Amino acid sequence: MAYNDFNMDSHWLPFTPNRAFRKDPRVFVGADGMQFTTHDGRKVIDGISSLWCVGAGHRRLPINEAIKKQLDTLDYATAFQASNDQAFLAAEKIAGMAPGDLNKVLFCNSGSEAADTSLKVALAYHRARGEGHRNVFIGREKGYHGVGFGGMSVGGIPANRKVYGGALLPRVDHLRFMHDPANAYIHNQEPESQEDFLLELENRILPLHDPSNVAAIIVEPVAGSAGWYLPPKGYLKRLREICDKHGILLIFDEVITGFGRMGTNFGADYYGVVPDMLNFAKCVTNGVIPLGGVICRDKLYDAMMKTDAPEHVIEFFHGYTYSGHPVACAAAVATLDLYQKEGLFPRAGEMGKVLGDAFHSTFKGLPNVIGIRSLGLAAAVELAPRAGAPGKRAYDIFVDCFKKGALVRPAGDVVVIAPPYIVEKSDIDRLVNTLADSIKAHA
Ligand SMILES: Cc1ncc(COP(=O)(O)O)c(C=O)c1O
Repeated sequence: MAYNDFNMDSHWLPFTPNRAFRKDPRVFVGADGMQFTTHDGRKVIDGISSLWCVGAGHRRLPINEAIKKQLDTLDYATAFQASNDQAFLAAEKIAGMAPGDLNKVLFCNSGSEAADTSLKVALAYHRARGEGHRNVFIGREKGYHGVGFGGMSVGGIPANRKVYGGALLPRVDHLRFMHDPANAYIHNQEPESQEDFLLELENRILPLHDPSNVAAIIVEPVAGSAGWYLPPKGYLKRLREICDKHGILLIFDEVITGFGRMGTNFGADYYGVVPDMLNFAKCVTNGVIPLGGVICRDKLYDAMMKTDAPEHVIEFFHGYTYSGHPVACAAAVATLDLYQKEGLFPRAGEMGKVLGDAFHSTFKGLPNVIGIRSLGLAAAVELAPRAGAPGKRAYDIFVDCFKKGALVRPAGDVVVIAPPYIVEKSDIDRLVNTLADSIKAHA
């Protein structure tokens, strides 16, 4: 199929340089397993699980069958004042996979909605306990929590914020970024840092706002969108302790680290730290149908149910038309069953070591390579920016890799590979060799 078979005048692409794209479009028309087919009939290997979503690989029959069956049984039902069987089944399954007493699932449709939902739960919970003055949120530099105004406000990627400054939430502060340049090269281990990145939280940020005013701290266990930056050893445990000390809720945004990427159910399991809320999306349905959510600890739900209001009064004024959509929830149940049946989370952990080995042995010493980080089934190679053109080198490499048949992910001047959990060593070799050729070609 030639791309002039469709008209490109109407679709405005998200997070894409549209002018460049129109001149040289990348359009998928089919996918199977690890591979896409493009509009011009080429095969492209999916090196990024299609935005960290497709853990089980593309076009998996058990998921597709479950969706078809659900469409023929109950296509949609109102989400407010009634529900559907699939939403209960999916919530039970998800809560069962989550650590500790993360037992109550609020569904939404995306990671952005999960971020805003979790911030609203935090405010409502504190208010329900008579601490409505707790309304300061703390995110982290380079954090990504989607594109809603709440998520953007606690997010810390400058380009995503700069145009919207006047409309961001007012009472927000940010933790320092937690990358130590001394740990430029990290392979399948937690970095050890001389620097204590949480001292500033304790010594400046909390005293400035007064901890009694802080509602929640939200972080990604591993900073995914920024370029796979790993927390130093002990960082998340200490963050948990600081939150506990001051009655502050800890939110893990696990939209990327959730459902297998770390070789475990969640990043919370990998790091042995239970947050008060855990946001998920993406891999929960293998990317097939939008679904997101927030898993809350019992205490949050219990506090909101403990109200003097009459029983007909809604306890939490929040939700989406498609919260717990039956087709999305049926897809989630089938996806999570499939991950389990095929042992895909442990496999992700194992293949992560293979990916990391390949990154470190292939890229170290190549021109402009200034760092390599691998943990879980994701690895990042950091490149020196072109003078005066930040992000251009990684963008050029991404475009070139695509032409060579590999989908990789540029993030600033970092290039990330995070393949589906079904990835084989031969796929990893193909991805890494293509990227290596491209890094050399863009020296
Ligand atoms: C950690 C994190 N949170 C939130 C989001 C936003 O998710 P969505 O694009 O589904 O709104 C993303 C997307 O990549 C993410 O990585």
